[in-house]
Amino acid sequence: MSEKKVTVLNLLKKKGSEKIVTVTAYDYPGAVLAERAGVDVILVGDSAGMVVLGYDSTIPVSMDEMIILSRAVARGATRPLIVGDMPFLSFNISLEEAVRNAGRFVKEGGVDAVKIEGGADYEDTVRAIRKAGIPVMAHIGLLPQSATLWSGYRVQGRTAEETWKLVQDAKAMERAGAFSIVIELVTDEAARLVTETVTIPTIGVGAGPHCDGQVLVYHDLLGLYDRIKPKFVKRYLDLSKLIEDALRAYRSDVLAGIFPGEENSFHMEEEEARKLEGSGR
Ligand code: KIV
Repeated sequence: MSEKKVTVLNLLKKKGSEKIVTVTAYDYPGAVLAERAGVDVILVGDSAGMVVLGYDSTIPVSMDEMIILSRAVARGATRPLIVGDMPFLSFNISLEEAVRNAGRFVKEGGVDAVKIEGGADYEDTVRAIRKAGIPVMAHIGLLPQSATLWSGYRVQGRTAEETWKLVQDAKAMERAGAFSIVIELVTDEAARLVTETVTIPTIGVGAGPHCDGQVLVYHDLLGLYDRIKPKFVKRYLDLSKLIEDALRAYRSDVLAGIFPGEENSFHMEEEEARKLEGSGR
């Protein structure tokens, strides 16, 4: 495994030759482990709002929250490309605010690129951020930020018409200068057509095997978030159970007086202990 920093150019070159492995992370230990496992890209997703901060959706997530999480991830991983996910209303109000917030992600959060949710409607936004020198990952298909407010979570690209709309969105993002496109919750057929149409890599989540790379939410793949289990998630571990079992074992050791044991304790020098006994205070 190369220790060299993954760059946007490396990812562009992988299209058609090697899959791009992406995972989300939101803190220092998650970033350290993702880097050790050899992932190419870490996305500090606004899914943090649900899996880390306990909100019902990603809508309430703020820039300040994302910056704190990004900074922790950037401290934990230096090799993968780190992408900061722009939260709801951080890029939708004006181009100026979009650029300012993307800049905060880079300057304060320590990320290498940002992601925005939205297709053709955000062509100017991607162009403006890109023009400021910040690489942009686009996100089409299911857009959790707007799906929460409008239509709910629904598989996209089930009809020819919907699929052509996805192709148009992808082309607009490519034209605007995005370096890759996340495709979320889309039929295999539509994701394949989008992937074959654009020259930049596509990263699928619930979008089948034909994308140029895959992304999963850290807590989903490790079994650390039980509130929803989407069909497209593959769970590699039941970490919730392992952690709960460990916490129960700790609790019963404390109740039984088994913890802390001799190996976890500290002692005075014997002479000091004798002085203490004799001093009678
Ligand atoms: O917020 C997130 O984690 C995401 C990924 C699922 C792509 O946007």
